[in-house]
Amino acid sequence: MRLFRQDTKVEALGTAPIFEGLSKKELTQLARVTDDVEVAAGTVLCKEGKTGSEFLVVMDGEVEVTRSGRRIGTGGAGDFFGEIALIEDIPRTATVTATTDVRLIVLTAPAFWGMLDLYPTIERKVLRTLASRLVANSADPSLA
Ligand code: CMP
Repeated sequence: MRLFRQDTKVEALGTAPIFEGLSKKELTQLARVTDDVEVAAGTVLCKEGKTGSEFLVVMDGEVEVTRSGRRIGTGGAGDFFGEIALIEDIPRTATVTATTDVRLIVLTAPAFWGMLDLYPTIERKVLRTLASRLVANSADPSLA
């Protein structure tokens, strides 16, 4: 479902911390290679153990993150998900579920890699978050 007109989408992208520092021209280019979607509360965005190749940025709404049925995190506007399976080329490490209606920006794997190639500042933000999540998960007593 299309949510934003192109100019509104560019504006929305500019509000997400991950895209902070990008010029209007860069945000416009990014808007062209991303999809904006709205999903209903209860929609599973990433499923633990399944293959997944999309990178998701929450623009509005709330999500929860679970592993083995246990809640390990929550997220909202500006938070991003799906980076681990993409970077590590492994199955999804957790399940991410919309707990309210959620608006998302979705990047395919090629769009994700293209974005990281172009913008080292974004790459650093993604890597920092990936590292902290891996550390959090490795300390998770539910992990074998
Ligand atoms: P991925 O493994 O591709 O799919 C599930 C996503 O949940 C994962 O990428 C991260 O984006 C996110 N995730 C994994 N572990 C945590 C955590 N401890 N806290 C928040 N988000 C997480």
